Amino acid sequence: MLEVKGLEASYGASQVLFGVDLAIGAGEVVSLLGRNGMGKTTTVRSLLGLLTPRAGAITFGGAAIAGLPAFRIAQAGIGLVPEGRQIFPNLSVRENLIATARAPRHSGVSSEPWTLERLYSLFPRLAEREANMGNQLSGGEQQMLAIGRALMTNPRLLILDEATEGLAPLVRAEIWRILDMLKRAGQAILVIDKNVDALTRIADRHYVIEKGRIVWSGDSAALQADTALRSRYLGV
Ligand SMILES: Nc1ncnc2c1ncn2[C@@H]1O[C@H](COP(=O)(O)OP(=O)(O)OP(=O)(O)O)[C@@H](O)[C@H]1O
Ligand SMILES: [Mg+2]
Repeated sequence: MLEVKGLEASYGASQVLFGVDLAIGAGEVVSLLGRNGMGKTTTVRSLLGLLTPRAGAITFGGAAIAGLPAFRIAQAGIGLVPEGRQIFPNLSVRENLIATARAPRHSGVSSEPWTLERLYSLFPRLAEREANMGNQLSGGEQQMLAIGRALMTNPRLLILDEATEGLAPLVRAEIWRILDMLKRAGQAILVIDKNVDALTRIADRHYVIEKGRIVWSGDSAALQADTALRSRYLGV
C-alpha cells in the first residue's frame, strides 16, 4: 500500500533523512522506532507532504505522492495523529471532528465509513464532551480527539506520532486497546511510540531508524529476541 524508497529530507541546509526505505501492506500494523531526534517525525512529515522531500520515491496505493501538497496526500487516504495532538483549541469536540471529516473517496476501505455516531461509540468520552472546547479537555481526551479526527478522514493508512506520550497508564492502555480494535477491523497503521513492549504486542513488523537511515527491520519476535539491538538503538 505504501512504499518508500531512498527518502531524503532536510531542514534548510541541515539534512536529516539520508535514504529511508520502508513499506506497509494493506491491513498491516508497522512501527517506526528510534531514539530522540533520529528522524521519525521528519519521516512522517515527508510522507504527508508537510515537508517536501529532497530525494526519493513514495508510492501510495500505486500512485507517486512525493512532492504533492499535503491536502492531496490526505485526500489520497493518509490520516495523521500528529505529535503534540494539535487539535483546534477554540473549536468544540464535535467541530474538531467534522472540521476535516471526509467521505472515503478511495477504494479499498475494509470497513464501513466513520461517522460521528460510530466514532462516539468507540470513544464514549468524546460523546459526553461533545460541546466542550478543545482546550477544556484533559490530555487523554485531547489524544482521543486527535485519533478521532484522523479516523473521520476515513484514511486507508493511519499514522500516529507519539500518541501515548505524557499520558497516564490507564489512558495509554485505552489507546492501545483502541489501536488493537482498529487493527482487527483491518486498518493499516504506522505507529511511532517509545513503548517498545506495547509495540511488540500490536505491530506486525518494525523499522528502526538511526540518524536518518533505517538500520534494522523485522517482526516482533526478532525485535524481542535482539537485546543488543534494543539497547544500542532504542536504549531499552
Ligand atoms: N523544524 C526543524 N528545523 C530544523 N531542524 C529540525 C526541525 N525539526 C526537527 N529537526 C531536527 O531534525 C532531526 C530529526 O528530528 P525528528 O523530529 O524527525 O526526530 P524524532 O525521531 O521524531 O525525535 P523525537 O523522538 O524526539 O520525536 C533532529 O536533529 C531535530 O533537531
Ligand atoms: Mg518525533
